[in-house]
Amino acid sequence: MVSPLSSPKIISKYDRDISHLFSRYNINSDSDDNLLSICNLKQININFLIDLINCYNDLTNLNKTNFNNYSVLDLVDYLEKSHDFYLNKRIPEIEQSLNKSCVQQKFTFNLLFLNFFQVYKKDIISHFETEETILFPFCKTLARYSKMKQHEDLVYILENKDAVLDYMDLHKKNNDEVGDLQKLLLKYSPSNNHLSYFEIFLNQMSIFQKDLKIHAEIEENILMEKIKVHLSNFEIKDV
Ligand SMILES: [Fe+2]
Ligand SMILES: [Fe+2]
Repeated sequence: MVSPLSSPKIISKYDRDISHLFSRYNINSDSDDNLLSICNLKQININFLIDLINCYNDLTNLNKTNFNNYSVLDLVDYLEKSHDFYLNKRIPEIEQSLNKSCVQQKFTFNLLFLNFFQVYKKDIISHFETEETILFPFCKTLARYSKMKQHEDLVYILENKDAVLDYMDLHKKNNDEVGDLQKLLLKYSPSNNHLSYFEIFLNQMSIFQKDLKIHAEIEENILMEKIKVHLSNFEIKDV
């Protein structure tokens, strides 16, 4: 189990995929410093980071971890950082492997995946954009209002709360559609040599799907539930 005295270097040694989580928090995965000093310096909630590391290491920890303990701001920060990583690193890498695979093996299913991936990418980018323009600013304003009680934040909350509640209801439906690509991948998985770009593409997609599972759990079952509770208390006291 990871402890506050573990270093990113040791943690990454046992799970190389974890370095992408460190990079989201601008932590050098080769560092010998312990997590405690790094998190103090960078003002990162160390317990949240350790819980995330444990889930990335072993997905079965996801349902055993109580992310409810963490603040709305910590949760939104992680979700924003992850969107940025998906858009600027993970998705371009996956797309590059798929493009190379199409050059390497001109099979019909590669073109099918290429088309499917373009639609998937467009959908996922628009999904992230909606969250960044509707959901996350609302969550941050709500968190600020609960501390500062400023009138302009109250106006913003009252004006936007119905749209946010509607969006949160729609979110689950949209997330279910993302699984379609995974089903298609399993159906057409080729039995070629293991070093093909298509194999690399499949591996990257499976890492990405695991990442999205953690992302969706924190977004939908933790953050959104917290916001709903905030809003129901809020209606009694403030409206
Ligand atoms: Fe998201
Ligand atoms: Fe989402």
